[in-house]
Amino acid sequence: MKGIILAGGTGSRLAPLTNVTNKHLLPVGRYPMIYHPIYKFLGAGITEILIVTGREHMGAVVSLLGSGSTFKCSFTYKVQDQAGGIAQALNLGRAFVGDDHCCVILGDQVFEDSIAPFVKNYLAQKTGSKILLKEVEDAPRFGVAELSQDGKKVVGIEEKPAKPKTNLAVTGIYFYDAQVFEIARTLKPSGRGELEITDVNNYYIAQGAMTWDLLKGNWTDAGTFDSLLVANNLMQGVDITKQE
Ligand code: G1P
Repeated sequence: MKGIILAGGTGSRLAPLTNVTNKHLLPVGRYPMIYHPIYKFLGAGITEILIVTGREHMGAVVSLLGSGSTFKCSFTYKVQDQAGGIAQALNLGRAFVGDDHCCVILGDQVFEDSIAPFVKNYLAQKTGSKILLKEVEDAPRFGVAELSQDGKKVVGIEEKPAKPKTNLAVTGIYFYDAQVFEIARTLKPSGRGELEITDVNNYYIAQGAMTWDLLKGNWTDAGTFDSLLVANNLMQGVDITKQE
């Protein structure tokens, strides 16, 4: 299983903090934001990690992380020339993943659960995709999942719905088989001009190839001023390098 961290985008919701640096280099607790997904991968034994970021800040990202030797892992880097959405960034992982499986974590995800049990569950299903859900109070900010009546299947995801059908946010932690690159290639830009990860996930759902699990611990993104504060409070004093 390969790991992919998507750390592109303009970070416009955090301007001017992000005017001269990448959102994922901002502090969350004692570490740069991007350390959080990195240590989640390491805690699950995933040590081949692709980092995708924009051209403006790739130098700073590489300068911070290097080859991976200090993390006891191996980093590969890919440049996303323009901010064209999460699914466009994901497309850059095709050669890196080959015919393996991948776990994709958005670079602004900050959470308490280990991903190791979810990796195990996902690998047991052999093909398709898995998403991780979390109950939230501000569902319209996220992709929101609707479940079947028996709760076993995800029947659809709406991206930032004005009137969400549930309070189940789709977290930015996804598991895919290599088919994801074929799917991502067929996508058309959304209303906000981006290739949406939600469209990828809905494709898997339509095929009946999507499973889900629930995060038990605290979870937040860190892409807005409010959620960045939540993330910092959550990780205050926590040494993520010592987590399992
Ligand atoms: C993205 C996804 C959304 C998901 C969220 C998780 O939103 O599009 O479906 O719920 O990440 O953090 P964005 O942060 O790009 O607005």
